[in-house]
Amino acid sequence: MAILFETERLMIRRWIPERDAEQAFEIYGDPKVTYFLGRGFPEPNIESQRQSLIRVTERYNQLNNGTGFWAIVEKETTKIVGSIIIKQLPGTDNVTTDDYEVGWHLRRADWGKGYATEAGRGMLAYGFDILNLPVIYAVVKPENHASIAVTQRLGMKPIGRTNKYYGGVELLLFQLDSSLV
Ligand SMILES: CC(C)(COP(=O)(O)OP(=O)(O)OC[C@H]1O[C@@H](n2cnc3c(N)ncnc32)[C@H](O)[C@@H]1OP(=O)(O)O)[C@@H](O)C(=O)NCCC(=O)NCCS
Repeated sequence: MAILFETERLMIRRWIPERDAEQAFEIYGDPKVTYFLGRGFPEPNIESQRQSLIRVTERYNQLNNGTGFWAIVEKETTKIVGSIIIKQLPGTDNVTTDDYEVGWHLRRADWGKGYATEAGRGMLAYGFDILNLPVIYAVVKPENHASIAVTQRLGMKPIGRTNKYYGGVELLLFQLDSSLV
C-alpha cells in the first residue's frame, strides 16, 4: 500500500484519493484544524476534498523527487489521523526554492497524543537519510503555538522571523541540521 515508513504507533502511507476523501475531510473540513493553513480551507465537502487530494498527489507524482504529502495512519485503529509533509518551500514569488520544510496536520480528535512529534521525527529521519538533505526547516505562523511546540519537541532550532517564503508572509523559521541528529 505504498508505505513510506512506520513508527511505534503510526504508519505513514500514500493518500489514495478515491478511498480516503471522507477521512481527509474529517481533517481539512474542520475550521479548527485549518485555521492557520491559509487559502482554500476549510474544504467545503467530500467531493472537493477528493479533487484536492487528486491534485496534490498528482503534483508530487510528477515531481517524483521523494517529496510529498502522506497520510498518518494509527496502527491500532487503522484510521487516518493526519498528514505529514516534506516539500520544497515556495519563495517570495511562490516559485519553489531549494529549501525543504516539514509540516504536520492532525485531526482535531487526535491532538494531544504526540502523533505530530512521532510522525515528524520519522519524516526528519527520512529527509536526512533517504533524501540526503543537509538541513530541514519548518515555518510556522507566529500565533500557532501548538505547531511551535512540535518543532521544539523535535529539537529544531528557532532562527527568528522570516519573509523569504510563501509569497513574503511573515513566519517563524525553525531549522535542524543533519549533523545534529
Ligand atoms: C500542530 C498540531 C499538529 C500539533 O498537535 P499536538 O497534538 O499538539 O502535537 P503532538 O502530536 O506532538 O502532541 C503533543 C501533545 O501530546 C501530549 N502527548 C501525549 N502522549 C504523548 C506521547 N506519547 N509523546 C509525545 N507527546 C505526547 C504532549 O504532552 C502534548 O500535549 P500538550 O500540548 O498538552 O503539551 C495540531 O495542533 C494541528 O493539527 N493543528 C492544525 C494544523 C496546523 O496548524 N499545522 C501546523 C502548520 S505549521
